[in-house]
Amino acid sequence: MEILKIKGGTPLQGQIKAAGAKNAMTKLLVASLLSDKTCTFYNVPNILDVEITVNLCREIGSEITWDKSAKILKITTRELKTSYVPQRYSGSNRIPILMIGALLGRTDEDIIVPTIGGDLIGSRPVDLHIHALQKLGAHIEYRIMKKEGAYLAQAHQGLKGAVISLSYPSVGATENTILAAVRAKGTTLIKNAAIEPEIIDLILFLQKLGANIMVDVDRTICIQQAHQFQEVEHTVLADRNEVASYAMAAVSTKGKVFIEGAEHLNMIAFLNKLREIGGGFNVKQNGIEFFYAGSLKGGLHLETDVHPGFMTDWQQPFVVLLTQCQGASVIHETVYENRFGYTHMLKEMGADIELFTQCLGGKQCRFASSNHHHSLVVKGPTPLKAHDFSIPDLRAGFAYVMAALLAPETSTISNVDFLDRGYEDLVAKLTSLGADISRQPLVKKTLPDKSKAALHQMLKKSDTEVLQM
Ligand code: UD1
Repeated sequence: MEILKIKGGTPLQGQIKAAGAKNAMTKLLVASLLSDKTCTFYNVPNILDVEITVNLCREIGSEITWDKSAKILKITTRELKTSYVPQRYSGSNRIPILMIGALLGRTDEDIIVPTIGGDLIGSRPVDLHIHALQKLGAHIEYRIMKKEGAYLAQAHQGLKGAVISLSYPSVGATENTILAAVRAKGTTLIKNAAIEPEIIDLILFLQKLGANIMVDVDRTICIQQAHQFQEVEHTVLADRNEVASYAMAAVSTKGKVFIEGAEHLNMIAFLNKLREIGGGFNVKQNGIEFFYAGSLKGGLHLETDVHPGFMTDWQQPFVVLLTQCQGASVIHETVYENRFGYTHMLKEMGADIELFTQCLGGKQCRFASSNHHHSLVVKGPTPLKAHDFSIPDLRAGFAYVMAALLAPETSTISNVDFLDRGYEDLVAKLTSLGADISRQPLVKKTLPDKSKAALHQMLKKSDTEVLQM
């Protein structure tokens, strides 16, 4: 186990290169399972979630070579060794459930995938995935296995195109349905589909693979059965989450960072909000430069939403940025019901944040009558004190990194695996921008003997293990 140590107070300055998108690359690997052809990917991010997905694919028969320094990955799945995804992948990330969509048309065997993981930012059900796949003719049931649950899926009679209306434009459910529809007989229409840039990237890949897919202006995606597949070369789009993260770190620390490869088209909602608070940016020919352009102002109303709205994953670091703005701002989180858990540590650092269960702002969202804290008011500017953090989820993790970069003393951050899932070379990139950051082994603190004895007495426990804090 390792921790990050960050001594803040230095403006970030310099240039980095955007990594390939986590939320695209992991799905592209799964999509490659639809055919037996070789797919070559460029700009592949070297992150834990890709590593996990690579292992998952190898498990079921894919041959993969991954040149991490060149960022090139080749995958061929000539035949499926198994359609059983082992339970040890349970909870690892959100990918196993998407395997169902990709494998249903590829095999007559039963497909078994463990229950899914990912960040703990709400209940994260998969009902929309299951209903859509059932509509295409799949039989899916949930079974309790040895330790945890798993989904059993099969389409022994084959899949058949259908009209599927999603009650909410879920990213994962849209992707799962597209994957299954590529090999389903006839035509499939997905109404109220998600149209995130990573989904468009998936569609571009599938078109190269042999599928005909149309995206209409009204969130309808039309997929025709693919009859033939071909080899594909595909460059993964830039990670808009990584770009926004470093942009916010640059502006909040009063620095200036150029991010090579940042794609303007996918950052529109973010750039609008950044400009509203007085953050600076210049869109250049091969990337975007972000900079502090003078005092930052609050008074912002921000609602997270599905694309093309302001992405929910940008919300946590944006709240840290708003702690440095003059005045009060309102955030309404409409995508996840439980994405403000990280704020209590920011408050301990000195941030002025208040949570609300009501929908603050323009519209009533799905969580209006629930009792979840899904709106907040943040007032600034507030200096932030150093803190010892434990990361609860990926984007909260970057929010803590940002908060630590703002605090002039040394902070420590544990549970760094969460950051490894989605941020390539985090320490190297931040170091190159002038941050004082290092990764160190976690040293367990042992209490002095006197304190141990006192604690023993207090707890009336003899197990010294509990004292290894
Ligand atoms: C993906 C992204 C995540 C991002 C999210 C929204 C990946 C690996 N993760 O997650 O970074 O924050 O999109 O942009 O790409 N829902 C249901 N039933 C379902 C599926 C979803 O109610 O069957 C709800 C969820 O609980 C959540 C909302 O829909 O409230 C959005 O979820 P979804 O769009 O599916 O997100 P993910 O695909 O899990």
